[in-house]
Order: sequence, then C-alpha cells, then structure tokens
Amino acid sequence: MAADTRAAAASVLGDVLRGKSLNQALPARLEKVAGKDRSLLQQLCYGTLRQGPRLQAILAQLLDKPLKDKDADLRGLLLCGLYQLDSMRIPDHAAVAETVGATRALNKNWARGMANAVLRRFLREREQLAAALDDAAAASHPRWLYEKVWAQWPAAAAAIVAANNQQPPMTLRVNTCRQGRADYLADLSDHGIEASAGAISPHAIQLAQPQDVFELPGFAAGAVSVQDEAAQMAAILLGAAAGERVLDACAAPGGKTCHILELQPQLQELVAMDIDRLRLDKVGENLVRLGLEATTLPGDAARPPPQLAAASFDRILVDAPCSASGVVRRHPDVKLLRRASDIAAMAKTQSHILSGLWPLLKPGGTLLYATCSILDEENSQVVRRFLHEQDDAELIDTAIEWGQAVDCGRQLLPAPGGTDGLFYTLLRKLTPA
Ligand SMILES: C[S@@+](CC[C@H](N)C(=O)[O-])C[C@H]1O[C@@H](n2cnc3c(N)ncnc32)[C@H](O)[C@@H]1O
Repeated sequence: MAADTRAAAASVLGDVLRGKSLNQALPARLEKVAGKDRSLLQQLCYGTLRQGPRLQAILAQLLDKPLKDKDADLRGLLLCGLYQLDSMRIPDHAAVAETVGATRALNKNWARGMANAVLRRFLREREQLAAALDDAAAASHPRWLYEKVWAQWPAAAAAIVAANNQQPPMTLRVNTCRQGRADYLADLSDHGIEASAGAISPHAIQLAQPQDVFELPGFAAGAVSVQDEAAQMAAILLGAAAGERVLDACAAPGGKTCHILELQPQLQELVAMDIDRLRLDKVGENLVRLGLEATTLPGDAARPPPQLAAASFDRILVDAPCSASGVVRRHPDVKLLRRASDIAAMAKTQSHILSGLWPLLKPGGTLLYATCSILDEENSQVVRRFLHEQDDAELIDTAIEWGQAVDCGRQLLPAPGGTDGLFYTLLRKLTPA
C-alpha cells in the first residue's frame, strides 16, 4: 500500500534524523517493501534529504511548537509529505491522504490531525513560506556548508549548490581487462540502453538513465562496475607498474582497489586495508565478481598493523575518510548529519592517517592522497601541514588537464551533469642523500 511506503520512508528518515547514515538506514527497509514500491521508497528518502534543509525550515514555520527528539519518525513523515507536495508529480490530495494515512504506523493518536493540518496549511501558504526562507535554506544547504562553498569557490558556488541538489548520473567503469569502452558501448546499444563515453576517464560510460545493475550486459560476470568518473582518476593517477607492491589503505568497498588491479594485473601484491571489517567484506565481494585478487586486511591506517613492514610499498593510495562535501548529491544525508565542527576533526584524522602510513612507503615511492571533499581544510591544508612536518616528502607536479589546480593538488568540483567533487595530490618520498 502507498501509505506503507510513506511509513517506511518516515522510519528511514527518522533513523537519519537520529544520526544514522542513509546507507545504514535504507537497505533493510528496502528489503521489506514490495518490489514495485522500492523505487518510490528510494525516491522519497533521497529526495526528502536532498531538500532536507529547505523542508526543515518550512516545517519550523508550520509547527506551533517544535517536535521533540522522540518524534523523529513523525518529523520524517512530515518532511516526506512536504517533499511530495513541493517537488513530486503526485496529485496534492493523494500525497496528503497517503501521508496522513501513514501516521497510523506511528501509534500517536494526535499525529493524524497534526499531519493533516500541517500539509494543508503548506498548500495554502506555500508562496509566503518559501519567501520567508533565508538564502541557505532556500538553496537547501545547511548554513555552515553553504557559507564555506561560497567563501572557498565563489565562481563555482552556484553550480556546486545546484549539483548538490540533483540526482547524480549513473556512471560505469569498463573492465578493460575484458573489453574496450567502444565495444561495451556497442553492447549497451544492442540492449537498448542509451549511454555515452565519459569526459575525463578513458574507462567511463555515462548512462542516460539509471539502470538496475543486473540488467547491464555482463555485470554479474565483471564486465563493468558502477563508479563516478572523478573516482576513476585515482587508479589512473596512481599509475602502478608491474611487479610493484601497492597498499590501498582505506579501501572499502573496493571501487578503487579493483580499478588498480584492472589497470595493472601484474602487481606483486595489492593489500586492501580498511578499519571497518563489514565494509571490507564488500571489497572481497567486488574482487570475486571481477575475478581479481588482493590481500584484504582489517587495520587502522593511522596505526598500521605490524604485518605491514616499514618501507615495503612502492605505492600507497590514501582515499581518506572525509566530510563527503564533494559527493552530497550521492549522500544527501550529509546535509543533515554533518556539522561544521566535524571538518576540523576530519582534518586531524586525515593528518594522522598520512603520518601513520608514510613509514610504509619505500624511498622513491609515491603516495596518492584523495578525498571526496571540496573543502580546503581537508585537502591542501592537510597536505601543506604534512609537507611542513615531513622533510622527506615532496609534491609531484603532474601534467593534469582535468579539474583545477589548487595549492597542493588538483580539485574536481561538482557541477550539474558533471563529475563528483574529488581532490587528488601525489607525493613522492625522497631517497636519503
Ligand atoms: C572514501 S571511503 C573509501 C572508498 C574506497 N577507496 C573505494 O573507492 O571504494 C573511506 C574508507 O576509509 C575507511 N576508514 C576510515 N578510517 C580509517 C582508518 N583509520 N584506517 C583505515 N580505514 C579507514 C572507512 O571505513 C571507509 O571505508
């Protein structure tokens, strides 16, 4: 029933409002709803969170007194109701009726009348309510992020904000061990799937419409993986050569691990490490599907486990945990979950990870530091501090044409129809004189 799907969305959104990520909250709920309702549930959750800051500010105007923390599911349902009225092509009367009907699942007698009153008042006063929003709420961004984007990227800010509010394209990485991009594009065309070659990665294909991966030709057998073009630049930049030992230090779920192996099947060894054992299982699953081999290892990159010997890796990839400010369109829960104060804490973790891994790199070896952040605090500032503290590290100057040069590396910025926002920098370990 449609009201059940709204109730499921309310429960997922309630979990996110209580602090869970969408990746933690959604999959279990998706499994419980009927197959035909799954895409609606996904749309309700992703769409409501994309518009989250705007809808929260509208809801605040519509409530006589703030909801309590224990009413997070009701808040989720009201936000989801407002999202349907504000942004979806569902007739108003149906959106109101289904959302009000979904209050039954909340076991709060008073919620029905309240939801009805809030949604109907929104329909009567939508123009005045929208006019009263401040600039950050109107752009559906938390104030701290909105201000940082405008301060750090004045020329690109409008495009970044617009991209953050859109559904991202679905991009594939062709497994070039199996076939070339042109051949796979032909396969897609034979299956009636509209697609085009990516703009910056030679292995990328952008689909005109998102698809169930199992409807893509050869997916189960490892012909392609889903990966944004910006993320595909990591393995290309790392440039691992035959016979080398490579450490992918923050590897899960393994998108970049697998790409490194696809590009260089003759490595001596690739160690894929992650602090999160459950996420590390995903690396194993991806390796199996693609027919690739790596050593998976649970471990903290800031304090690497003893089996990783000093100076034993030719190349290290550090795809560091970060604010995800460059991939907001894929993780819209970031808008509600992340706080301004998280950024300094992230930068500290990133610095500890860099210093922890550096001794593992051979003299003459290279380390690629990457984040999916567009914030200078997590990118150039972390690298600049590291270079200041580490006498035997230097920046490698690469002749890259994509993205833009920043103080200590290369930045790709989100833009409508474009790539995710990733930062990359390559560091070399100097050989002792
Ligand atoms: C951006 S994700 C990596 C994505 C991955 N490289 C890919 O392409 O599929 C960051 C990863 O870092 C892991 N992580 C966080 N802190 C870590 C630490 N101290 N040591 C190792 N891994 C860590 C997280 O569990 C997460 O899987």
